Order: sequence, then structure tokens, then C-alpha cells
Amino acid sequence: MVIPDRIPLCILPTPIGTLSRVSSDFGTEILIKRDDLTGFAGNGNKGRKLEYLISEIVTQGIDTVVSSGATQSNFLRQLGAACAVVGIRCLAATMHAPYEEADRKATGILTQGGNPALDEIFGLERTLYPDGTWAELDAHAEALAESERARGAKVHVIPLGGSGPLGVLAFYRAAEELASQLTAPVDFIVCPSSSGSTHIGLTSSFLGTSTKVIGIGCDPEPEMLDDLVDLSRSFSDAYGLAPALSPHQIDLRLDYVGPGYGVPSPEGTEALRYLARREGILLDPIYSAKTFAGMLDLLRKKKIGGRVLFWHTGGMPALFARPSD
Ligand SMILES: Cc1ncc(COP(=O)(O)O)c(C=O)c1O
Repeated sequence: MVIPDRIPLCILPTPIGTLSRVSSDFGTEILIKRDDLTGFAGNGNKGRKLEYLISEIVTQGIDTVVSSGATQSNFLRQLGAACAVVGIRCLAATMHAPYEEADRKATGILTQGGNPALDEIFGLERTLYPDGTWAELDAHAEALAESERARGAKVHVIPLGGSGPLGVLAFYRAAEELASQLTAPVDFIVCPSSSGSTHIGLTSSFLGTSTKVIGIGCDPEPEMLDDLVDLSRSFSDAYGLAPALSPHQIDLRLDYVGPGYGVPSPEGTEALRYLARREGILLDPIYSAKTFAGMLDLLRKKKIGGRVLFWHTGGMPALFARPSD
């Protein structure tokens, strides 16, 4: 099978380091993979996926990209920038709270400042819709795409978070990058899991090794596991690099989401302050802080130990976001 090309956008490999003070607090070796330093459009894990996604788009002669996401989407920020650098127009359908009604009760969603301010700088054209489900948000993106097609544009729709086989491929490769940097294997990798390509790419690559990958769910949706299984199958079918994962091979923890997707949790905020004050490293409130909090909880409960690696996926712009007035 043909493995797609990538257009370099990020500064790779990203560094790995040891969290020496956290390691001494927890009495075990804790490493960090710094995808908060990918160096493209405000940093973060999405730059890796975009290297492949943008390459595919350029090859297909697309002139307009349409995608979707929540207001604080880090993916949309980096997608807007990636499209800008290759001269492609980028439109996005957004909602403040795009999830099932039952999960929309959380207050304190970060709607103002942060990523949207950067989107404007990168030239992303956002359209904000009233809150609804993810499926409704997808439908809005499709409608945007359709109206662009009707105007004669050559449009490509990118799924939420850039998660598809190419997004997984990017993280399958990122796992190889990590393996080449490590002097000895790690016992656990802890990463955020949302649209899923980070988690599935890493899990697929370390399958059958002594390294276990744990994804900390950032959405409060039990059906996420089904989505991850589907994503894994699509990656396997597309490139044949790894077998499709069955549910028991995907370690997804849903107990650290807190009040809801896009809303900071007290434990995440505490973990964010702890890492900032112990190591001078900033997390983001929506993904990496909850994941770091989850990792610390698992360490405290002795559910994980040995050499543990925290995969920092970036997202710092959301630190400058605030809820609606
Ligand atoms: C900062 C940050 N970390 C982690 C994730 C989750 O990555 P994935 O969508 O690959 O599950 C995202 C996705 O939106 C993100 O923006």
C-alpha cells in the first residue's frame, strides 16, 4: 500500500525530557514528550496530522477546505494556518458546546479569547452555530461545503480534529520518533484522547511491546470507544501498517473529564498549577491538564509505575480563554 507523503510543518523530533521534580515527588521516573513544542501555528499535536492532511489536499488540487470544531478547537487554529501557508481558503463550522444535550449542562465553557483570536490572525473563516450535537455540527460543515461547491470551488471536508487514517498515521510515526529517542523502553505512555488519532496511532505502534498506552478521555462520552475502534479499523484498512484494534486493546479512561468537554476540572486546574510550579511547563485546561491529573491519580493509586511518559499535546492558547460574560 502507498504511504502518503508529508509536507513538513513542525520542528521534529520534538524534545523528550525528564520531569525531575515530579519524578522525585512520585518516586518513579516520569518523562515528557514535548508536542507542545511542535513549533507550528502555536504548537500542539495537530501539526503532526496536518503535515499529512495538507499534503493530500495539495496533491488533489483542492482550493477550499471546510472543517468543524468547538470554539476552542486547537485543530481549527492549526488547520487555518496550514491552509494559509499553502494558499488554500479555510472555512469552519463551530459551536460553543457541540455535544449531546445531556452533556451540555456544564457551565463555564470557554467561549471567549484563546484560539478564536488566533484563528482570525491565521485567516480562518469561522461560522458560529447555536449549540447542538456533533452530528449537527458535521451537517453544518457539509452544508457550508455544499454552498462552496455550488459556487464552483473544489472543496475538501476534513473531519473533526483531523482524525482519520492520516491523523493516525501521523501518530504511528510519532511513536516511532519517540522509540528512536528513548534509551530504554517506557512502561506507560499517558496521552489525551478525544477525536482519537493521537491515542490510536500510539497504541497501534506500541501494540505487542512492553509499553502500554493509556488514553485519558477528554469527552464525557462512553461511545467514544466505538469511535476509536472504527478509527483503528480505517487506519488498518488504509495502510496495512497495524492490525485493527479490538476494544480490549484500547485503554481509554473516562473518569477524568470533570464537569464536561471544554470545561476546566478542579483536578486539572490543580495539576496545571502543580506542573507549572514544579517544572515551569504549562498545560492547557481542556486536554493536557486533565490528562496530567489522570496520570498523577493513577500514579498515586499505584495503577501505573516504572518509567512513565506523559505525552504533552499542547493547547496553551485555551489558557487565555474565558467563559461567556
Ligand atoms: C491540545 C490537545 N490535546 C489533545 C487533543 C486530543 O487529540 P485527538 O483529537 O488526537 O484525540 C486535542 C484535540 O483536539 C488537543 O487540541
